[in-house]
Amino acid sequence: MNALKGRDLLSIADLSSTEIIDLLNLAADLKQGKIAPTCPKTLGLLFYKASTRTRVSFSVAMYQLGGNVIDLNPNRTQVGRGEPIEDTARVLDRYLDILAIRTFDQQDLETFADYCEMPIINALTDLEHPCQMLADLQTMQETFGQLEGLTMTYVGDGNNVAHSILLGGALVGMNIRIATPKDYEPSPKIVAQAQAIAGDRSQILITHDPKEAAEGCHAIYTDVWASMGQEDLANSRVPIFQPYQVNAELMALADKEAIALHCLPAHRGEEITADVMEGPQAKIWDQAENRMHAQKALMASLLGIV
Ligand code: CP
Ligand code: NVA
Repeated sequence: MNALKGRDLLSIADLSSTEIIDLLNLAADLKQGKIAPTCPKTLGLLFYKASTRTRVSFSVAMYQLGGNVIDLNPNRTQVGRGEPIEDTARVLDRYLDILAIRTFDQQDLETFADYCEMPIINALTDLEHPCQMLADLQTMQETFGQLEGLTMTYVGDGNNVAHSILLGGALVGMNIRIATPKDYEPSPKIVAQAQAIAGDRSQILITHDPKEAAEGCHAIYTDVWASMGQEDLANSRVPIFQPYQVNAELMALADKEAIALHCLPAHRGEEITADVMEGPQAKIWDQAENRMHAQKALMASLLGIV
C-alpha cells in the first residue's frame, strides 16, 4: 500500500487495478475494525460546490484516524477573492498534510497538484468523482464478493459520475454500460480511455437505449439529471431524461440479484422512483456509508500510515 504514499488522486485512473483492489480490501478491514491506524495529520477541505456526504465522510474519516480537519470555505479564504491557485497551493502546502478539493474545472485541480507536494484528492470536479467510485466498488464487492465479470449499468447524464464509473469499472474488469439521451453521452475521450483500459477483459457499451443497457446487469446506477452548476438547465432537461428514469420496470430487466445505486443527492420521481430507492434492491445507504471507509483507506494510503 505504500506505493500510494505521497501521490495524488485526480482521476480514478490514477490508480492501477491492483491498487484499487488493495484499497477496497483495506477499506473492508477498516470497516470491520480489524485495523485502526492513526495519524496526527491535517486534512484541508476546499469545496467550491455544496456537499453533504463528501465533506462529512472525509471529516469523520480523518477524525477517526486521529487527525484534524480544516474547512477552507472559498468564501472565507483569499482564493475566493482571486488569489491565484499557484500562490494558494504553495502556502497551503506549508501547513496541511493532505488536501481534498471539490471544484468545477479539472485543470484547477491539476494546478493545485502541480504546486503542492502533499497529496491532492479530487472530491468531485465536472469531469470526475473518483472517491465516489471507490465507495461504489466497495459496495459491489460487498454484495457480490468479487468485481471482475460483473456488469454495471449507468442510466442518465453522461457526467462526472458516469466518467469515473467508466474508468474505475474498466480498471477492475467490470462490463460497463452507459445509457444516455442523445447529446448527453460521456466524453468520447473518457470512453476511449476506458476502452483502452478494458481491452479484451471487459466490455464497454454506450447506448441511447436504457432497456438494452439494463438487460441482465448486476447493478443499475443513476445520478441527477442536472449537476451542480447546471441548475438553470434542470427544468428543460426533465422531458429529455424522463425515458431514462430508474424505476421498477427498468429494474425488472436486470439480473434478479441486481442492486440499485445512486451517489445522492437524489430527486425521487425524476432520475429514480421512490419505490426503487426504498425497495429491497437499493444499496444506496451502504454506498453512502462506504464513502467514509473508502476515503479513510485512501487517506491512510496516501499519507503512508498503512
Ligand atoms: N455523492 C456525493 O458526493 O454527495 P455530496 O455532494 O453530498 O458530497
Ligand atoms: N453529478 C452530480 C454528482 C453529485 C454528487 C454533480 O456533479 O452535481
